[in-house]
Amino acid sequence: MSNQALLKPITLGDLELKNRVIMAPMTRSRADNEANAATDLHAKYYKQRASAGLIISEGSQISSQAVGYVNTAGIYKPEQIEGWKKVTDAVHDEDGKIFVQLWHVGRMSHPDFHDGDKPVAPSAVNPNDKSYTYEGFKETVEPRALTTAEVKQVVQDFKKAAKNAVDAGFDGIEIHSSNGYLIHQFFNNSSNHRDDEYGGSIENKARILFEIIEAAKVFFPTNRIGVRLNPSLHGLFGMEADEETIPTFEYIVKKLNDYDLAYLHLSEPFTDVSDIDYLVDNIADHFRPLYKGNLMINGGFDQESGNKVIENEKADMVAYGKLFISNPDLPVRFEKNAELQDWDSDTFYVPGAKGYTDYPKLEDK
Ligand SMILES: Cc1cc2nc3c(=O)[nH]c(=O)nc-3n(C[C@H](O)[C@H](O)[C@H](O)COP(=O)(O)O)c2cc1C
Repeated sequence: MSNQALLKPITLGDLELKNRVIMAPMTRSRADNEANAATDLHAKYYKQRASAGLIISEGSQISSQAVGYVNTAGIYKPEQIEGWKKVTDAVHDEDGKIFVQLWHVGRMSHPDFHDGDKPVAPSAVNPNDKSYTYEGFKETVEPRALTTAEVKQVVQDFKKAAKNAVDAGFDGIEIHSSNGYLIHQFFNNSSNHRDDEYGGSIENKARILFEIIEAAKVFFPTNRIGVRLNPSLHGLFGMEADEETIPTFEYIVKKLNDYDLAYLHLSEPFTDVSDIDYLVDNIADHFRPLYKGNLMINGGFDQESGNKVIENEKADMVAYGKLFISNPDLPVRFEKNAELQDWDSDTFYVPGAKGYTDYPKLEDK
């Protein structure tokens, strides 16, 4: 066995991962069929990457209200469950493990996806971003604020999606409470102006996440549930942080200690925030002491920095995004200290096999 920290096994609850090289969740927009279901091509793509300790699937919308991008796969229709079954079977055939990322985009959407109706959000605040629709990029609009009853319905939609994930054969779920999408929109003051139990205090702004965990655990024990957070996201996806942002995430992370989760998945800042004194520019350093369970870190890591962050006990696993797109056998390449292939960002979000299933493994060369 290699002595690299990344290649040592780890146990999440009752799940044994063969290494700590995790495939990060990545939208690839290949569900270009009427039902927005995963296809044989998805099965091939994920199977190629089954040497990961754990695959986290692309964000998968939990309802028609949750959609915000063209050709993303869902997990709320029967055809979608069938599509995902092909994927989980293919990954399990290769002795891999796969969680599905459950996703609601909230205001990061467009009326084109909702028969002309406004997208929904915690509050009616336009993220002033772009939405990628069937007719190309369009300006986002002012969303409609969810009623209290509708927030509770969103929690139920996550619960139903968790049930569907069991039926589709996933090993667990990751709750996408990150990157400026619906749940994250509740956490930040700029996007949440509510005066009901889901707004105002830090506890209220965080409430929806804990209600979703409570609802989902009926179908997956909490040690099969992961949570993703991006605490220092600022100036992207419509998110604006302030002095209360990091205290909100500190509250969330400490409270997650009560749940015995499979893992907490944190991203390092997507932009340079070193000159913003109320944000944290080293997420692993800041949050490791606050979280007692398995910590997964992501964002710009390579082989060397990935091994180092684990050796330094700042994280237990590292999630790789773009490197997993272009290196389907990433853990094998790490083991052999082999050269890594570059990714082609032009094919990140376009249908078809090009830039999806045609990156060679070492053994193919
Ligand atoms: C093509 C692409 C699609 C992505 N889609 C998602 C997604 O569906 N859900 C999510 O949480 N993050 C998504 N991300 C963010 C990645 O999970 C990851 O945080 C980011 O790529 C930084 O990690 P890296 O430096 O290892 O690539 C996406 C990133 C890329 C490049």
